[in-house]
Order: sequence, then C-alpha cells, then structure tokens
Amino acid sequence: MSDDSEIAIVLGTRPEIIKLAPVIRECQERSIPYTVIHTGQHYSESLTDVFFSELGLPEPEYELAVGSGSHGQQTGEMIIGIEEALLEAEPDTVLVQGDTNSVLAGAIATSKLPIDLGHVEAGLRSHDRTMPEERNRIVADHTSEYLFAPTDQARRALCDEGVPDEWIYVTGNTVVDAVEQNKSVALERTAIFDEHDLTRGEFCLLTAHRAETVDDEERFASLLEGASRVADALEMEIIYPIHPRAANAVEEFDLEIPDGVRTIEPQKYLDFLALESGAALVLTDSGGIQEETCILGVPCVTLRENTERPETLEVGANVLVGTDPQEIHDGALEMIDRTPDWTNPFGDGEAAGRIVDTVLHGEAPMEVAK
Ligand code: UD1
Ligand code: UDP
Repeated sequence: MSDDSEIAIVLGTRPEIIKLAPVIRECQERSIPYTVIHTGQHYSESLTDVFFSELGLPEPEYELAVGSGSHGQQTGEMIIGIEEALLEAEPDTVLVQGDTNSVLAGAIATSKLPIDLGHVEAGLRSHDRTMPEERNRIVADHTSEYLFAPTDQARRALCDEGVPDEWIYVTGNTVVDAVEQNKSVALERTAIFDEHDLTRGEFCLLTAHRAETVDDEERFASLLEGASRVADALEMEIIYPIHPRAANAVEEFDLEIPDGVRTIEPQKYLDFLALESGAALVLTDSGGIQEETCILGVPCVTLRENTERPETLEVGANVLVGTDPQEIHDGALEMIDRTPDWTNPFGDGEAAGRIVDTVLHGEAPMEVAK
C-alpha cells in the first residue's frame, strides 16, 4: 500500500472516538487521505460531539445516525450503512477499534469487500462469552488482516486461537497516546474541581455503565451499596459521572443513589482525565478506565468478575471485586494505600504511528477473494 492510499476509520461510541483520535491525528499530520464513518451508536452530545470538538477532530464524512436498538437491528443497520459508505469511499484499509457493536458491524461489512481490515486493540479476552463485547472482539479479530495487539499478552491470546503470528503487530494501546497528548492540557485547563467543589486526592470516582452490571437490578443495587460502604469507610465522597444507560436503569428500577455518592453528567474527556488524575481511588466497570488509571498511577477497583485487561491486575494497579458490597469495600480498602509504583504495560504512546506505518508500508498477509 502506498502513501496516497486511503484509510477509512469506523467509529461510533465514546471510547472509540477517544482511542482513535491519535490515529486520525497521525493521518492528518502525515497528510494521509482518510475518511471517518460514524455509525451513530452514540448520539447524545455528551457521548460523542463533545469529543470531536475537544479533540480537534473534523466532522465525520459519513454519519449513519443508526442510534439505539436491539443488538441485531443496530448492528444490521450499521452494516448496511458502512457498506454503502465503503463502496463510495473505496478505501484500501478500514480500521476499527475495540469491541462495540460498531466494531462488529465495521468488521463484517469490510470482510465482505475487497478491502483490508485492521483491528486496533486486538487480542483482548475476558474469556466470558456472555458479554457481547467478547463476541464482538473475537469476530473482529478473526476477520482482520492486520491485528494491532496492545501487549504481548494479547498477541499470545491471538496465537492461541490460531492467528498466524505474522499477522499480529504489537503496537501498544492508543489509549497511552491519548493520555499523553491530553493530560497536561487537561490539568492546566480544567475547572472541574471548582465546579464540583472537590479537592484533589479527597474523593473517589465511580463509573458503571456495562449492560451486565446496570441492566440487572440486583447487581446494580448491590454495586451502589458497595459504593456507599466505601464512601463511609474512607470518609470520602464518590463522584459518579453517569452514562445514560445507567441513568435510565436508576429510573426504571427506582433505585436510590445512596448518601456519599454524587451523580453528575457524563464528562468531557479533558475534565474526566482531570477527575481520574485527582481521584484517590477509582471504582469502575469500564475497560478504558482500567487502562487509564493504570497509566495515570491511580489505584483502580474493578466492579466485574473478570477483565480483558489482566495486565492491570498483574502490575498491581487494579483488583477485581465484582458487585458484592463487602468485596467492593474490602477491595477499596486494599487499594487506597497502594503505592502507584507499577509500570504501565500498555506501551510508550507511539501506538498510532506504528498502526499507520503498518497499514501504509506493511504487507497484508494475504490477498483475500471477497
Ligand atoms: C456501548 C458498548 C460498550 C461500551 C459503551 C461505551 C456495545 C454492545 N456496547 O454500550 O461495550 O463500553 O458503549 O460507552 O456496543 N444511550 C443514550 N445516548 C447515546 C447512546 C446510548 O441515551 O448516545 C442510551 C440508550 O438508552 C441506549 C443505551 O444508552 O439504549 C445503551 O446504548 P448502546 O449504544 O446500546 O450501548 P452502551 O451501553 O452505550
Ligand atoms: N470518559 C469520559 N467521560 C466520562 C466517562 C468516561 O470522557 O464521563 C472516557 C474515559 O476517559 C475513557 C472512556 O471514556 O477514555 C471510557 O469509555 P467507557 O467507559 O464508556 O467505555 P469502555 O472503555 O468501557 O468501553
């Protein structure tokens, strides 16, 4: 592939915009022609538009506006829209990132066309196939010509599934690029601490939005009870920027947000990075936030039974506690005093450059008859 070839970037949700921004920036800086296709899986201003403006990204060339729906309907509509966009844009390579339904749709649409597919953040495995994300990432990995694994552990997971080693490129995770590109600006510019009357190091941050957590009334209530116990034990307020899915669940199940937990709107990326950096401890069921806390040196308690980011556990930055209130309490007490002397396992912040280099100058492993 030559330097004048075109890359299409398919994205649709908050974490994909954040983690693909460094790749888009790399294309811009090198004047590489590229096209952005936004599926519209996320459409609320606070989950999508704010990131485009804050990260200086141009408007997507294609906005499919698919919106919410059942998994099949949402994915199906995205496949149709992505195929139409790809037939018009005629890129040489499509990049998808992560494990959402937008990634699944991008992978399936591309795999039916004579276009190479690159999966950014390949090889992550929770080994829990009840999670839609696990199935999405497996499909994306097994339809890709380029597998951009963030760590050697992810590379080994792919090899264990029979992916030839020469298709896999260990690049680091673009989340490190994003944190490095934005952290100092975030800390300089943020007014978030004043806005919410917070003192750095004297509050905890909570995010919980995953389907398996918040769509189950008992699990969500148990998680909130755990957060309440942490607030009491640490004598710290817990700030919870609440994803619309979780906000809807609170309303539907008529759950009470306990004393000690304060919900706020989903935050812009720079303000959220500042909140993460300033938190004494982060409680989360997010994938990206397990990585960011590890990079930022903030202890993390993961409110899940498993993780596809085992590197964070191995370096001592994170513990898995599930949603049992006592386990959450105990995990928080264990982590609050942890010295953040671990090494970041997710790379050196140059992942986007490696990905673009590979797509431009690497050899796709095979000519696929599609
Ligand atoms: C999706 C991903 C999840 C990822 C998360 C990032 C899948 C299967 N899940 O979950 O892996 O961690 O994005 O945040 O792809 N909603 C809004 N506004 C929006 C989008 C959604 O209000 O802009 C509400 C709707 O009620 C919707 C619900 O949130 O039904 C869930 O949205 P959906 O895109 O299906 O999944 P997420 O929970 O956002
Ligand atoms: N994030 C944000 N504002 C918020 C919550 C999260 O900007 O209020 C960012 C966070 O910094 C991380 C990403 O969103 O980069 C994580 O997204 P999310 O937790 O929705 O998805 P996941 O990573 O679990 O797929």
